[in-house]
Amino acid sequence: MFIDSHCHLFYDDFKNDITDVITRANDAGVQYFIVPATNHETAKQAIMLAEQYPSIFVSVGFHPLDLKEFSTERLALIEGMIAHPKVIAIGEIGIDYFYDTSPREYQKEIFSFQIELAIRKNLPIIVHTRDSVQDAVDIVIRYAKSYPEWRIEGKRGVFHCFTGDAAQAKALFDSKFLVSFPGPVTFKKSTMPNLIKEIGIENIMVETDSPYLTPVPFRGKRNEPSYIPLIAQKIAETLDISIDEVARITTANAIKLFALPIA
Ligand code: NI
Repeated sequence: MFIDSHCHLFYDDFKNDITDVITRANDAGVQYFIVPATNHETAKQAIMLAEQYPSIFVSVGFHPLDLKEFSTERLALIEGMIAHPKVIAIGEIGIDYFYDTSPREYQKEIFSFQIELAIRKNLPIIVHTRDSVQDAVDIVIRYAKSYPEWRIEGKRGVFHCFTGDAAQAKALFDSKFLVSFPGPVTFKKSTMPNLIKEIGIENIMVETDSPYLTPVPFRGKRNEPSYIPLIAQKIAETLDISIDEVARITTANAIKLFALPIA
């Protein structure tokens, strides 16, 4: 069994065939879906999906590329959604220096607000970075050190689509964060396989980031969770272990991180 730890199933890309997408994923062994919202509107849409499909769980928060949508009133709306039983994390939150759609200091401030919300609610976080891994690592590790009681029994969060180096990954692991890898791990020129060889399987998860980041051989088409085994297969080959082992460990990591109420 696999869990797609990051897929945006609320986007219009899926509105005509979401049931088929979920059925295909189930047929491919992908049993559960973590759907990270990007703002207060997509949080509502994600929760509606989670109410319709038992296999969908949701995270809520403001994505760094969606900060034009941010206000303290809307953050209060997000906070109100946390009581929903299918909401299992705060995300996706983070900082993005590639598109730089908001000033960097502002991005860091809103990222920090949302980490503080997660700490107050004792929830894990789903972190987005682009050209900003070190700053994001510094911020989360500072919070982890200041709030040792945050997720004392579990893991504190995941850096999704991890593009940092092995030293950054190890610093995250030491502070009880995980990293996850999507479709680009299958690309010919990807540096992710070498990184995975260095950091091992123990603290990683698999994700599609659907509808983006489609793996080979479907690159260029819409991504969907049924492609998770392509990513897992590449990781299995990279580490010279079986795909079942990749499934077992990455699924256990997702269940533990998000404290999923499943057997
Ligand atoms: Ni995402």
